[in-house]
Amino acid sequence: MTEPFAAGIERLRQEALGTLESVGDTAALEAWRVHYLGKGGVVTEELKRIGGLAPAERPAAGQIVNDLKRALSEALDVARATLEAAAQEQASAREAVDVTLPGRGVDMGVAHPLSEAMAHIEAIFVGLGFAVTSGPEIEDEFHNFEALNIPAHHPARAMHDTFYLDHGRLLRTHTSTVQIRYMERHRPPFRIIAPGRVYRSDAPDPTHSPVFHQVEGLAVGPDLTMGHLKSVLKTFLQAFFDRRLALRLRPSYFPFTEPSAEVDISCLLCGGSGCRVCKNTGWIEVLGCGLVHPAVLARVGLDPEVVRGFAFGMGVERLVMLRDGIPDVRLFYENDLRFLKSIGPCA
Ligand code: PHE
Repeated sequence: MTEPFAAGIERLRQEALGTLESVGDTAALEAWRVHYLGKGGVVTEELKRIGGLAPAERPAAGQIVNDLKRALSEALDVARATLEAAAQEQASAREAVDVTLPGRGVDMGVAHPLSEAMAHIEAIFVGLGFAVTSGPEIEDEFHNFEALNIPAHHPARAMHDTFYLDHGRLLRTHTSTVQIRYMERHRPPFRIIAPGRVYRSDAPDPTHSPVFHQVEGLAVGPDLTMGHLKSVLKTFLQAFFDRRLALRLRPSYFPFTEPSAEVDISCLLCGGSGCRVCKNTGWIEVLGCGLVHPAVLARVGLDPEVVRGFAFGMGVERLVMLRDGIPDVRLFYENDLRFLKSIGPCA
């Protein structure tokens, strides 16, 4: 009598282990467990059937069903462990980092060429004992023109192509405004530079931009001469261009300086023998300068009989263009990284 019972259990065992082999995920595994080992599952049903056997057969039958139950439970544990191991392997394959791949480069920022040049210019003048100061970009006619000896209707006003704002205000056309603002507040002796943006309503072209940068210089003291001015400028220009230069002061005119001069340096490309850059003259114009006009000193309450000053003004873009051979001033304002990275100390 036990024989057919035992054979039935054996079939069951094989069937259960067979289906377990095709179980591929935890949901199917749970369904398998409920079917065979759950309350009211196949094994429980078999245990119940033992009650229907002859009393003498029950212990052996019980033993057989219990063996089945243990065998299925063990198979379940093994299958579960296998599934978990496979899932973990998949997860680590998904999250794996290939440490042999080349790294992604970090793009380093650099100072804008104009910022770099301004810092360089400031450092040179600070080394010569100049203080760095500044003034507003929105100005009035007094500081931009009148106090600089450019009265209304003076032809120099027309030369400046001024952007006018409301209420008599304007965008400063040069940093010479800071000469006035500084002298209104400070008594000589002093020497300052004033770097900053200036504005002129010029159409942009390779040599014009409606906004550009200047550095103004002003020194006032009891005994300043054109000789001091020239030596300061020569020292500065040689430091900025990092070479020995010849300097030439050419008589010129600015309403706020007397005498006035344009400063030429020996050509950076040919050294003075004549080339395309210097239009075969051997000289390149780099800045304007002069002794502060007595009328300008008087305007701010200084006695021109007692103090003298020298002043100079330079365009920063122009200096950098000359130094680095940049053909078009608009490159400074177009944010093309290929250009911005190609000049300056990090190039
Ligand atoms: N302000 C003049 C300009 O913009 C430059 C300058 C400054 C000339 C100081 C002489 C002295 O052209």
